[in-house]
Amino acid sequence: MSRRRRLAILGSTGSIGRSALDVVGRFPDRFEVVALAAGRNVGLLAEQVRACRPRVVAVATEEGARALAGALGPEAPEILVGAEGACAVAALGEVDYVLAAIAGSAGMRPTAAAIRAGKVVGLANKESIVLAGEHLMAMARAKGTPILPVDSEHSAIFQCLVGHHRDDVRRLVLTASGGPFRDWSEEQLRQATPEQALRHPNWEMGAKITVDSATLMNKGLEVIEARWLFDLPPERIGILVHPESVVHSMVEYVDGSVVAQLGTPDMRGPIAFALTWPGPRLPLDLAPLNLGERGALRFEEPDPRRFPAYTLCYEALRAGGTAPAVLSGADEAAVEAFLEGRAGFTDIAAAVAHALERHEIRPVSSVEDALDASEEGRRHATSYLAARARAS
Ligand SMILES: NC(=O)c1ccc[n+]([C@@H]2O[C@H](COP(=O)([O-])OP(=O)(O)OC[C@H]3O[C@@H](n4cnc5c(N)ncnc54)[C@H](OP(=O)(O)O)[C@@H]3O)[C@@H](O)[C@H]2O)c1
Repeated sequence: MSRRRRLAILGSTGSIGRSALDVVGRFPDRFEVVALAAGRNVGLLAEQVRACRPRVVAVATEEGARALAGALGPEAPEILVGAEGACAVAALGEVDYVLAAIAGSAGMRPTAAAIRAGKVVGLANKESIVLAGEHLMAMARAKGTPILPVDSEHSAIFQCLVGHHRDDVRRLVLTASGGPFRDWSEEQLRQATPEQALRHPNWEMGAKITVDSATLMNKGLEVIEARWLFDLPPERIGILVHPESVVHSMVEYVDGSVVAQLGTPDMRGPIAFALTWPGPRLPLDLAPLNLGERGALRFEEPDPRRFPAYTLCYEALRAGGTAPAVLSGADEAAVEAFLEGRAGFTDIAAAVAHALERHEIRPVSSVEDALDASEEGRRHATSYLAARARAS
């Protein structure tokens, strides 16, 4: 790259945002942080502003904006507020690259704003592509702007596709760690607590995605994400449980050859790859992968009986239209309820299945259509869980 990439990092205070700033801070000759957007963690955002001096920041609330201005005093950058603020940050004229890492459906509008403004997008916020994948990909094609995967599995597939003919792909295989409950019985799963679900064996991530990893919903959401990012039908996207999380995913070609991408589980790898593409890789000092010391790598088929959540994602994808958005909204509400003690672990998939059953599928022609469907999913899941709680 001839000049520094001018970045807006959305979700800078989250797990992905912090890892991205760690990478970016090590290569000041390659990146300039122009703007940050965060939710409510004003204390951390103030520290990030002092460290990387963005020109603009966005926070979720007016109260947060006042607290940030107070904390930074005369050093404060321009402070914007709410979803409009995050969208404005994503579309800033002097930004050429947006890392979309807000969690959940709150990331939808800012991700769309970045694409609409023709920015290169590093996409971590998988919910936006689950909600409105077809629509966003069409918008990106029309703008001629790339959407680069940050999710480790999709980054792996992206890397495995480089230098190959697109028509030679037979299928994609997404690997899944299996989460903390991989060996648990159905009875044990019914008793699983938020503390246990949040103890992921290999990855440190935000709470929502960690619970989604435990139900395997995350892997199903990734199938939907892969369907749109790589333009392949669901029957050509498989899942394989791989407890060591060393093989990040694979591409099988028509001649039977399988190309895989391996590495230690550390999100700074895929983040750096997405931030620099198509430039040269960054020399990162991540723990090296020593396969000799690692020993055996295991692979097994996922179990749809104990982990039905991922099968719902295939169903939603086949149903099309608003079904994936309803699924995503229902899952967000059910995960929140689980984390707040209002639902059991196995209620999450049941609530999502209920929301899909209740929903009448419509086409998605806009971001608003997708967000409306996601809200409907939330409502169905919430009323289902409330009824269950009353009955028990
Ligand atoms: N973590 C991973 O390893 C990983 C891997 C692959 C994909 N992803 C995806 O990347 C996204 C982020 O995940 P994460 O693990 O980094 O989540 P996280 O740790 O929970 O962080 C979420 C970020 O979003 C911000 N945010 C939440 N609501 C917001 C709102 N209404 N307006 C503005 N900002 C808001 C939060 O701000 P505050 O904290 O300031 O409130 C925080 O910066 C998710 O879509 C996830 O699925 C994550």
